[in-house]
Amino acid sequence: MLKPFTDRPRRLRRNSLIRDLVHETDLKLSQLVQPYFLSTSKDAEAKETISEFSGVYRWGVDALAREMESQIDRGLSRFLLFGSTTEKDATGSAAVSQNASVAEAIAKLKKRFGDASLLFSDICLCPYTDHGHCGVIDEEVIDNDASIDLLCRMALTHAEAGVDFVAPSDMMDGRVGAIRKILDQKQFSDVGILAYTAKYLSNYYGPFREALDSAPQKGDRSTYQMDYRNQREALRELQLDLAEGADIVMVKPALPYLDILALFAKHSSVPVAAYSVSGEYQMVQLAAKAGIADAKSLALENLTSIRRAGADIIFTYFAAEIAEKGWLR
Ligand code: PBG
Ligand code: ZN
Repeated sequence: MLKPFTDRPRRLRRNSLIRDLVHETDLKLSQLVQPYFLSTSKDAEAKETISEFSGVYRWGVDALAREMESQIDRGLSRFLLFGSTTEKDATGSAAVSQNASVAEAIAKLKKRFGDASLLFSDICLCPYTDHGHCGVIDEEVIDNDASIDLLCRMALTHAEAGVDFVAPSDMMDGRVGAIRKILDQKQFSDVGILAYTAKYLSNYYGPFREALDSAPQKGDRSTYQMDYRNQREALRELQLDLAEGADIVMVKPALPYLDILALFAKHSSVPVAAYSVSGEYQMVQLAAKAGIADAKSLALENLTSIRRAGADIIFTYFAAEIAEKGWLR
């Protein structure tokens, strides 16, 4: 008797040797970037906890250098730095001062590690302005072009300190091109730009804003960050950032925006990064704490899905723990 034809996808799931042979998406330490926050205290040994951000700290520069050294030994060598200040003012002047904490940290870390580590630095005014917005305000409106001037100066300060990539996260129009121009003029043509290209107005930034005390005091960021109802608009931002010279383009947040990642993977001529943000991270931590799921399994599933959707690079607060605990070995 002839059996009816049955296609059997399960044949390729029969055992782990087959599954590992045919798997499509991989996740490696070389694809991950760990964000770090600098402490505003003068204590170079500081390691401050953040109440709603499990396992994430604000670091003094010497303590951070030792932390990075252990991570580099484990194979995690790419880091994104965030600074902030307790001396906030209307224009965020601490962001562009020569002795801004980030610039000092970049110089120190680059001197210590050289090309053994890759440093990205966030370029935005919100941790430095007293109103908490990402640009300067003129009569209640965020002044795009005045903000760009300051962002350019901030980027230049970090380039002078030796950063590898500046990462503008402010969402002002035209800032990528303006930063590229000033970097080239000042002989920093080797310093790259990782653009936060499609950055959405999101409810997933909570723990981050606690870390840097950077929440807007009045209103929200809806006149500059993207509306999450929109997909096509992300393509427009992509075209602009590519035309303005971005070396890497980023989508943020990651997990609720996999469609945008897939779109970028298809249309971008440069590598695509995803920022799995603080709220995505903390949800996993809280789910694990509540016994709903295992943190390792959940984190690896989320990150692999972000890769599967099209991210070449992932910025994630899990990178340190993954390296430390050898989750990818
Ligand atoms: C601000 C900035 C934000 C993040 C990075 N840079 C969010 C915001 O708009 O306040 C979010 C990162 C995270 O939540 O992990 N320019
Ligand atoms: Zn900002």
